[in-house]
Formats: sequence, C-alpha cells, structure tokens
Amino acid sequence: MGTKVNKKDKIKLSMVSLGPGDHELVTIKALKALKSCGAICIPTKSADNSFNRSITHKIISKLMDEFGFDKPILPIYSPMNFKHDDWQYQVDIIQKGIKEYGSVSFVTLGDSAIYSTVYYLLDIIKKQDKKLYKKSEVIAGITSFSYASSQMKKPLCLGDTAFKIVPLLDKEVPSTTVYMRPKIGMETDNIEENGKIYTFENLNMQGETMTKGKVKKVRKYMTLFIDFIKWK
Ligand SMILES: C[S@@+](CC[C@H](N)C(=O)[O-])C[C@H]1O[C@@H](n2cnc3c(N)ncnc32)[C@H](O)[C@@H]1O
Repeated sequence: MGTKVNKKDKIKLSMVSLGPGDHELVTIKALKALKSCGAICIPTKSADNSFNRSITHKIISKLMDEFGFDKPILPIYSPMNFKHDDWQYQVDIIQKGIKEYGSVSFVTLGDSAIYSTVYYLLDIIKKQDKKLYKKSEVIAGITSFSYASSQMKKPLCLGDTAFKIVPLLDKEVPSTTVYMRPKIGMETDNIEENGKIYTFENLNMQGETMTKGKVKKVRKYMTLFIDFIKWK
C-alpha cells in the first residue's frame, strides 16, 4: 500500500462546493470556509463580469444576508470553452486574490467532484504553484442527482444494484469506478485497477485511513475504493 494522503496545511485556497442551487443545501463546512476566507471568487458566464444570470452569486448573497457576513467578491469570467487559456486566466485571478486578501474561496455548483472546473484549475495550480497547491482544499457538496433522487424519494442504488453517471457524448469515455459494501475479510485481488486506485477506511471516524492502492484484505465494513481514471 502507498503513502497516506495529506489532509491539511494552512489553507489559502478553498474550492467550495455549494450544492444544487438552494442556499440551504450548502454544508456547514462550506459556510465556515466562506465566512473565514479573505474574498470569494465567483465564476460568471457574462463577459462583462456581471452576475445577472449567476445562481452561485445568488447563493452567496443569500448566505451573507442570512448568516451576517460580508466578503469582497471577485468575478471570474468562465466561458465554458474548455480551453487552457481560460483556466489559466481564472488561476491568475485566484492567485491575485490570494495576494491581496490572504486567502480566497472559489465556488462551484453541486459537488466539485462532478464535472467541475475546480480540477482543471487545481491541475494548473499543482504544476505552477506547488506551495499554493499544498495550501488548497476541496470542500465536498451535494450533487444535483443526489438532490433529484431525494425529490423523487427514489434511491440511486439499493441492495444488489449499481449506479452509473453517463455524460451525453457521441463517444466512449473512460470511467472512474467506486467500489462499496465489501465484506470484512474479503481479498481485494479481484478488484480491477484500470486507473489509480485508492482505499478509504472509516472516513471521518476513528481509524480513518486514505491510502494509495488497495488494502490486501478488507478490515472494516466502512471501506470504499475509488479507481480514479488517469488524466492525460
Ligand atoms: C457541469 S455539470 C456540474 C454538475 C455538478 N457539479 C453536480 O454536482 O451536480 C452540469 C450538469 O449537471 C446537471 N445539473 C447540475 N445542476 C442541475 C440542476 N439544478 N438541475 C438539473 N440538472 C443539473 C446537468 O446535467 C448539467 O448539464
């Protein structure tokens, strides 16, 4: 098994997931990050940096009103062209914000693990500013589909069933796989590794571990494996 994943350094950059559009679905951890940072970076699709169409801005405004705090807002033009230059521009604004305000939160809708700009930005930061990368964190949020499922009172998976996320594209794409519900004592040789697999045990509980690779034998019921796809 590989090295333990580092959990925290002194945070200068928080990538904050805001959930699926309702400020009441923001986590306490996200709220605390927003209240304690120097400034909040909010993406906007408007080239004039306005927030007329921005759901994220609406959520932040409501949180500031309801929880009585106020932070400088740094608009980040995000045209969704999937171009490196656009992401670089966004990283530049984040870095400038950190210089000026000490720390910033960058906000994203739903959960940052699901098709979010967050990881394009972190990828650039990891390459060009290792110190900042170490002082960054990602705060998880509620996904749009967890919320949709709750509204229908229907599970995404239950008993002996699985759950898929399929992007609507005209091509086959590689897939990250999450393995859950192992039996204690089970050997993990049969768990396929196509990308990079990690083992997570007792998350946020006593005996928490996050390790690269697979444990040889499952020790705890609260164990999950993620086979992350390899990025180019
Ligand atoms: C770029 S992805 C972001 C997903 C987001 N990070 C999440 O955790 O749900 C955008 C896609 O998520 C889905 N989505 C996000 N928010 C939604 C909402 N409020 N209602 C319906 N679908 C939504 C849609 O399929 C949309 O095309």
